[in-house]
Amino acid sequence: METRRVADILKNGQPEETVIIKGWVRTKRELKGFAFTEVNDGSSLAGLQVVLDNEIPDYDTIIKKVNTGASIEVAGKLVPSQGKGQKIELKANSVIIYGEADLETYPLQKKRHSFEFLRTISHLRSRTNTLGAVFRVRNACATAIHQFFQEKGFMWIHSPIITASDCEGAGELFTVTNLNLNNLPKNDAGEVDYSQDFFGKPAYLTVSGQLQAEVMAMAFQNVYTFGPTFRAENSNTSRHLAEFWMVEPEMAFCDLEGDQNLAEEFLKYIFKYVLETCPEDMEFFNKWINKTVLATADNIINNEFARITYTKAVELLEKADKKFEFPVEWGIDLQSEHERYLAEELFKKPVIVSNYPKEIKAFYMRLDEGEKTVSAMDVLAPNIGEIIGGSQREERLDVLERRIQETGMESDDLWWYLDLRRYGTVPHAGFGLGFERVVQFMTGMTNIRDVIPFPRTPLNAEF
Ligand code: 4AD
Ligand code: MG
Repeated sequence: METRRVADILKNGQPEETVIIKGWVRTKRELKGFAFTEVNDGSSLAGLQVVLDNEIPDYDTIIKKVNTGASIEVAGKLVPSQGKGQKIELKANSVIIYGEADLETYPLQKKRHSFEFLRTISHLRSRTNTLGAVFRVRNACATAIHQFFQEKGFMWIHSPIITASDCEGAGELFTVTNLNLNNLPKNDAGEVDYSQDFFGKPAYLTVSGQLQAEVMAMAFQNVYTFGPTFRAENSNTSRHLAEFWMVEPEMAFCDLEGDQNLAEEFLKYIFKYVLETCPEDMEFFNKWINKTVLATADNIINNEFARITYTKAVELLEKADKKFEFPVEWGIDLQSEHERYLAEELFKKPVIVSNYPKEIKAFYMRLDEGEKTVSAMDVLAPNIGEIIGGSQREERLDVLERRIQETGMESDDLWWYLDLRRYGTVPHAGFGLGFERVVQFMTGMTNIRDVIPFPRTPLNAEF
C-alpha cells in the first residue's frame, strides 16, 4: 500500500480507510495500556493523531521507543476522533520504528525555543512548527513565482554563478580562485598574478544575474532568473544575507512604468497564491508571529501601491514630524528608517520610489532628461523596507559608455554588454526581488536568517 501524506489524510481521509503514514513523532501521551502520539511528516502544520494500544504487536517495547523525534511508520485504520482539535485519527495496527531519538539529548523538547537557539540547530529546526510553516510558505512563493512568469510567457534563464563582472559596481564580491593562498603568484608590480588563476583573470560569485538576463532578453524578449546570489557586505542586519536568492525579470521593449506595473502585479500574485495554498500556515503566522500578517496580505492584494519620485520622497521625509538618525537631504541614499517611515507610517502600504540621483545608483540605469537622475525604482514594503530594486536600462551606446567611465567601471570587461547596444538595441527594463525578503514579508518573521534553511552571514557558514 502506498504511503499517504498527513496533509492529504487530514483533508480527504475517511473513517474505515486503511492507511500507512511515515513521519516523526512530535508528542506522546501515555496512559494505561494505550498512548496518543502526534506524527508529523512535514506536509502540514498539523500532525496526525495516532492511537496505539496494547493490541499492536510488541506494544511494550514499541511504546518505549515512540518518543519525540523518533521516525516511525504506522499502518492502521482511520477513525473519527473523540478528542478535540481533530476530526479524524489513526488507530494503529502495527508500528515500525526506523530511528529512535534519545529523550534526554534530543534538542527539540516540547517547549518554546528562541529563534536564536534554533539557528544553532539548523539541522533540526525544520521539524518545529514555525520553521516548518516558513519553508512550506517559501516553497509556495517559489511555485508562485515560476507560475506567474510562465503564465505570462517569460522564459526562465540560468545566469552563471561564477562571473568576472561586478554588476552592481559596489565591490561586495566574493573572489573565486584556486590559487594557493599561502603562496600567491605575483607580477612585477607585486600584485597577485591572476593570469595564473583558473580563469586567467579575477572571478567572483555573482551579485546579480542581470547583465546576463539582459543578453537573453535581447533574444527572447521576456525572461527571468531565479537563483542564488552573493554579497560580501559586512552588514549584520535582520534583512541581509551573504547568500540569498534573487528573482530578476528582464523585459525588452519596456520602460520604467512597465517595470513598475510588473513589480506590483508580481507581488500581488505571490501573496494571493500563498494565501490560497497555505491558509493554515498563514493563520499560524498571524496568531503566533505577527498579528498583522493577514491584514497586510489583504492590503497588498487589494490596494494600489503608492508611486512617488525620489524627489517627492525627500520632500515628504523633510516634512515628517519625526527625527531620523540619518538626516535627509536631496542626494542621500535612503536609509532603512526612511524607507520604513514612507511605507509603514505615511502610506501604510508598499511604495514605489523612482528616479533616484544618478550618483547613488548603478552604471547601467538609464539617464533621465536633465541628467541628474536615473530611471531607477525601488519597491519599499512595510516592515521590510526595500524588497525590489529595478530600473530601465541605458540602451544608448554613447551614454552607457560615458556612465561606465563616470562610475569607474572597466569598459574592456563589458565589451559584450556594450555590443548589445551596438546590435539591435531596444529600450528595456527589469528588476530584482529579494526572495528571502518576500518570504519575510509574507510570514512576518523578523529575522531573515529564519526564512532560509541554511543562512550564510558574516562569521557563519555552519551546516
Ligand atoms: O537592489 P539590488 O542590489 O538590485 C540588483 O541587484 C539589480 N541587478 C536587480 C535588477 O535590476 N535585475 O538587489 C535586488 C534586491 C533588493 O531589493 C533586496 O530585496 C535584495 O535583492 N537584496 C538582498 N536580500 C538579502 N540579503 C542581501 N544582502 C541583499 N541585497 C539585496
Ligand atoms: Mg537596491
